[in-house]
Amino acid sequence: MPATIILGSQWGDEGKGKLVDRLAEQATWVVRFQGGNNAGHTVVLGDQVLKFHLLPSGITRKECNLILGDGMVIDPWVLDTELKGWEESSGEDPSGDRLFVSERAHIILPYHRYMDSLDKKIGTTGRGIGPTYADKINRIGLRFGDLAEVIDDSHWASSTAERMNAALEAVGSKDRVNASDLASEVKWIFERYQSAIAPTGVMLDNALKLGERVILEGAQGCLLDIDQGTYPFVTSSVTSRGNATHGAGIHPGHVDEVIGITKAYITRVGNGGMPTELEDEIGHHLGTIGHEFGTTTGRKRRCGWFDAVVMRHAQRINGFTGLALTKLDVLGGLEEIKICVAYELDGKEIHEMPSSATALERCKPIYVSTPGFPAHSLDEWLDIAKAANRDGKGINALPAAAQNYIRQLEGLLGVPVTSVGVGPDRDATIDLV
Ligand code: IMP
Repeated sequence: MPATIILGSQWGDEGKGKLVDRLAEQATWVVRFQGGNNAGHTVVLGDQVLKFHLLPSGITRKECNLILGDGMVIDPWVLDTELKGWEESSGEDPSGDRLFVSERAHIILPYHRYMDSLDKKIGTTGRGIGPTYADKINRIGLRFGDLAEVIDDSHWASSTAERMNAALEAVGSKDRVNASDLASEVKWIFERYQSAIAPTGVMLDNALKLGERVILEGAQGCLLDIDQGTYPFVTSSVTSRGNATHGAGIHPGHVDEVIGITKAYITRVGNGGMPTELEDEIGHHLGTIGHEFGTTTGRKRRCGWFDAVVMRHAQRINGFTGLALTKLDVLGGLEEIKICVAYELDGKEIHEMPSSATALERCKPIYVSTPGFPAHSLDEWLDIAKAANRDGKGINALPAAAQNYIRQLEGLLGVPVTSVGVGPDRDATIDLV
């Protein structure tokens, strides 16, 4: 059975968690392959709102195995807190039973958080992501699989603390790392996760050979990709399709489906250009009705119209086989909906995103507009979605103007929309195929 990749196609926060949670019902494995607790997923189960930063969204399906894969950077203390929270609400500790941590995944230590806290330019989440990836690329990082070799090595602790303190001093930080604290920390990490640390790529390869279904769950979005995003205002990992299998430790031939999660409008947190950003009452409408506040940092997300230039870029990089359009309900009540189809840059019309961050700041959106559709309450949308799926109505369950909007997006991007989200509830999603 092949693997499915779920990716954010914009600047993150498109609602991947909800889709993965739905698809996990038919999957045996859900795998994170990059990033760390800079991500945030919200899953709504009736009255229960669950927020995860590291645990894959498939956690809520008890028959689903979970992997924190090779390409990730993992804060062991955050993972511990999430696991305790899950155990309190479900009575289950999945570590080593159905949750496995790759021996190749890198560890976020307090030092990495100290370094990240100095960021003033990018607007990072401050979780130590960039500094941990920097150590990985510098080949001085600490991986889960290396813990056994360093726990009783006092020379490792003292030389590592010395190196870290020199780096902290060099950048003007007042924080310092104590060698004996570091030694106890790595001992605790080893003991806490010993049963869960595993050769997860091999496990997945075996599972695929046995015909089991695997979901590769992306974090962040295409425009935050270190290579293909709006550099330097990006995260420090490859968030795109090319890294999904690589970061999971399997080959790309396993993949048959790549779903791009796409908000019906666009949002961004942190700094950097965003041509369709709206700082008016429509932006306020999107932010308020869409509850656009970061799951990880609580920061207000910047909101704007759907940007087809961004999406064409994401499509070129990822080759989505389908788009899951989310939060369509949030557009309800707007008289007119705009879609950005091109940019004007220094007096010229362009159809591709510029690679330069300063050029992107100067881009002005060129819009087409389409009629809006009425607002409904979340309960009404949920009823519409349930009835649509029950009766197989698909897109016809939606108001005509909403259908028209979706068809325009498909036409502009050349990719079918395979589902439409109309509310936060697990069941508030209409399947179109
Ligand atoms: P970092 O990943 O913490 O280094 O942050 C780098 C940039 O990526 C900042 O602009 C963050 O706001 C953004 N970012 C990181 N993770 C997410 C996410 O899950 N959703 C949206 N933006 C994110």
